[in-house]
Amino acid sequence: MDIDVPHLSDRHFRSIVDLIQGRVGIQLPPSKRTMLEGRLRKRMRALDLETLEAYGRHLFDDGHLAEEYVHLVDCVTTNKTDFFREPAHFDILRQEIVPHLTHSGGRPLLKIWSAAASTGAEAYTLAMVLQDMIAAGHDFTYTILGTDISTEVVRVAQTAIYPDDMLAAVPAHLRRRYVMAARDPARRQGRIVPELRSRVRFQHLNLMDAHYGIDSDVHVIFCRNVLIYFDKPTQKTVVAHLAAHLRPGGYLVVGHSESMAGAGVAGLTQVTSTVFRKAKEPAR
Ligand SMILES: C[S@@+](CC[C@H](N)C(=O)[O-])C[C@H]1O[C@@H](n2cnc3c(N)ncnc32)[C@H](O)[C@@H]1O
Repeated sequence: MDIDVPHLSDRHFRSIVDLIQGRVGIQLPPSKRTMLEGRLRKRMRALDLETLEAYGRHLFDDGHLAEEYVHLVDCVTTNKTDFFREPAHFDILRQEIVPHLTHSGGRPLLKIWSAAASTGAEAYTLAMVLQDMIAAGHDFTYTILGTDISTEVVRVAQTAIYPDDMLAAVPAHLRRRYVMAARDPARRQGRIVPELRSRVRFQHLNLMDAHYGIDSDVHVIFCRNVLIYFDKPTQKTVVAHLAAHLRPGGYLVVGHSESMAGAGVAGLTQVTSTVFRKAKEPAR
């Protein structure tokens, strides 16, 4: 019998660490224990439990893990995101990636995947850049899929409503075109216009799954600021799995602190430190 301490017991901390690393891929070293406990307190209160130890028992001793699991995943994931985060990637998309993928003409349909989409700012940044290229006369169409393991962020992404503070990162000319201000300015939020919303959809997906159920002819995958939470073997497995969903000549973009994750993965050539390209099929 565990003594009812305000913190998680070592046994329950270990159980959460093993469960999350095994199913989600995220590593939770002892240095993250205080952060984890802080986030779990919210769940403890929501369930009317007195201590984190009682929350641990709720999960692992009283058989409530299955029903609590989605909330646990929401708690352990870090969902920080921004519009135009790491802006150099959107310059390279505009100047190199899209021209390479569309040079043969014929109004191609570009399939884009934001593979750890959080609340959707990355997917809608991609949509703004692509729509702006089309407005400037480039001849292609596109669809964007945003996926994430956290059901809570997928729900927020589907609303396409963002606080003004976040929208401030969108360049003014794109904000005027692609963001509708709330009717009541006191709400301090805006919504992405229907023209972009109709091109972007969001769904739940765990990058650790053996099968993604995603098309395998994707043109561009953005998988940024998630690999950093995984250990090196998991990073390589996930990148190889993502690469299998790229069409020959397609691109994978990782976060600036994740350049090592794509290096040395079979079939991928490094274009810049964080942009990789899948080999084209040999000409027949
Ligand atoms: C820090 S955010 C990055 C968001 C966006 N890519 C960006 O760079 O702004 C990382 C996201 O990865 C998601 N994530 C973590 N582990 C995942 C997994 N195994 N499968 C899918 N998404 C995962 C988290 O829920 C979180 O929303």
